[in-house]
Amino acid sequence: MTARIIDGKVIAADLRARVAGEVARVKRENSLTPGLAVVLVGNDPASEVYVRSKHTQTQAAGMASFEHKLSADVSQADLLALIAGLNGDPAVHGILVQLPLPKHLHTETIINAIDPAKDVDGLHPNNAGRLAGGFAALSPCTPLGCIILTRSVHPSLEGMNAIVIGRSNLVGRPLVQLLLNENATVTIAHSRSRDLPKLCAQADLVYAAVGKPEMVRGSWLKPGATVIDVGINRIPTAEGKTKLIGDVAFQEALDVAGAITPVPGGVGQMTVACLLVNTLRAACAIHKLPAPGV
Ligand code: GUN
Repeated sequence: MTARIIDGKVIAADLRARVAGEVARVKRENSLTPGLAVVLVGNDPASEVYVRSKHTQTQAAGMASFEHKLSADVSQADLLALIAGLNGDPAVHGILVQLPLPKHLHTETIINAIDPAKDVDGLHPNNAGRLAGGFAALSPCTPLGCIILTRSVHPSLEGMNAIVIGRSNLVGRPLVQLLLNENATVTIAHSRSRDLPKLCAQADLVYAAVGKPEMVRGSWLKPGATVIDVGINRIPTAEGKTKLIGDVAFQEALDVAGAITPVPGGVGQMTVACLLVNTLRAACAIHKLPAPGV
């Protein structure tokens, strides 16, 4: 058996098109242009690529994009002052501070300074707590993308056994909450978990979000499982270049899984598309409009 490949490119493009349609509608009906502000501190090359892609895709969806590039040695006070300005700016409905931040900045203090209504990353404790409580919340984009990809295979996740490997604030923990909201039965595994292969063997849905190249082996999987690979690991090749691989041994998994996301071309494609969804939702909520149809 060869697993079905879950095409993140196609699913993300479809989502972006639906967001663009809803943006056009709120512009027409409510004279509202959703706006996203992205803050980049320093010049980490990977972060610069992400931020450029966010800018292009935000504009392509018909939204306003505000980029703030700050030097790597910006003071915490200056960064907090920028965030306070964005919190008060009526043209801005979403604020994203690209992570990781340089070491001299205190990430938790910076995230806590963002107005929770504009926290399109879903990282503010107010949103994380609301999500954990099962209340309406802005949820982190990568986990949202994981759920959408899973639902392209299984329209309902009710009663399915899911394992989330990794417990980061950005992916693992919020993904667990979203899966619970979908009525899945969730196992949370991490670097200290015992006998990961045995835990995986029970799982209909496997989410690998650990940042360890090809850690999850094909032999760990339950035949027919759906595998969502969140890992983006850049590794050197024999030719002296680099390539991206996931947290799952893809070739091995192909023979066992029922469906699997590739790296690249899987989860990575969904994150920015979900950021656009969150910005549109935040804009509608701030303006007390009905929730958009995406
Ligand atoms: N860096 C890598 N992924 C993300 C993300 O989803 N949000 C933010 N703010 N920074 C990131």
